[in-house]
Amino acid sequence: MRGGRHIAAVTDASFDLAPGECLALVGESGCGKSVLASALLGLLPGNARTAGAAVLTGTPADGSPRPGAAGSAPLPGIDLLTATERELARSVRGRRVGLVPQSPAAHLTPVRTVRAQLEETVRELTDVPRHELRSAAEGAAERAAFPADHLDRYPHQLSGGLAQRAATALALVGEAPLLIADEPTTGLDRDLVDRTVDELRRHADDGRALLMITHDLAAAERIADRVAVMYAGRIVELADAAEFFGTPGPRHPYARGLLDALPERAFAPIPGLPPELGALPDGCAFAARCPHATAACATVPEPVDGVACHHVPTDAQAHAQEPADA
Ligand SMILES: Nc1ncnc2c1ncn2[C@@H]1O[C@H](COP(=O)(O)OP(=O)(O)O)[C@@H](O)[C@H]1O
Ligand SMILES: [Mg+2]
Repeated sequence: MRGGRHIAAVTDASFDLAPGECLALVGESGCGKSVLASALLGLLPGNARTAGAAVLTGTPADGSPRPGAAGSAPLPGIDLLTATERELARSVRGRRVGLVPQSPAAHLTPVRTVRAQLEETVRELTDVPRHELRSAAEGAAERAAFPADHLDRYPHQLSGGLAQRAATALALVGEAPLLIADEPTTGLDRDLVDRTVDELRRHADDGRALLMITHDLAAAERIADRVAVMYAGRIVELADAAEFFGTPGPRHPYARGLLDALPERAFAPIPGLPPELGALPDGCAFAARCPHATAACATVPEPVDGVACHHVPTDAQAHAQEPADA
């Protein structure tokens, strides 16, 4: 809510995410990616409202015992949007859903060193014995490319990139069945981006789920099995990553524009700016910037085959144009 008005920061977002899979959520700044992540963790401001459901089912992919679970019994399913703060704090955040927050500096405890925070998190979320806490914390730092000689620093002594890596290390410790990484590569140079992305990919390859939020399409291409493209609070395309980044390519005009804007592709930016969420047009929010817009775009397109656009032929329409079998 802004100035007494309600703003729809995320509308009709619908997707699923399986163990072992990485979904990259991409889109320009301000399109609602972090709001979506915050909603899944119950971290929206108190005046925010949500509707719908976000169900986290309980079976670990490998059937292994998890902290908080009795033996190897599956954890109960939980709707993250209606769970109480107590449930979220006790059994969800860190344990069942890990988060690499978008502003890591704000999430690190200012009065404790990175080492102390890592050791504490290892102690809380794993069954590593006491005498191995130190090496487990160092191992977690190593995985996130956090330099060992900076472990005894306090958060305010870290650069943005180092705070980012500290937050990633902390988020990896719990081996949560779902990890949400919100712009985990901000402030890192390309080599470190690749290292971080590969480490996050390992999280998925070990049978856990990863929601990778990024505006870095190269990072998304490197890590994702599927891609969700957000524009002005809506998911406008949900696609297989290989098809999206390869052939046939993105199908939504906005998604095509995002890829064409990349220096290594056409280097042609999308003209104009995204609309203010408080002043969205009635129809398709992308129409004002879209080369294909027609009168049809005065209504919001429903997603068909993962694409919300009036001008993308659906499989059904494509088949309808083929001559009917006798
Ligand atoms: N607490 C809030 N009150 C009002 N508007 C907000 C609040 N939080 C986020 N927004 C707005 O929601 C939109 C989406 O923000 P965000 O999810 O942070 O975008 P992204 O992560 O895609 O860059 C932005 O326009 C932002 O200004
Ligand atoms: Mg964000």
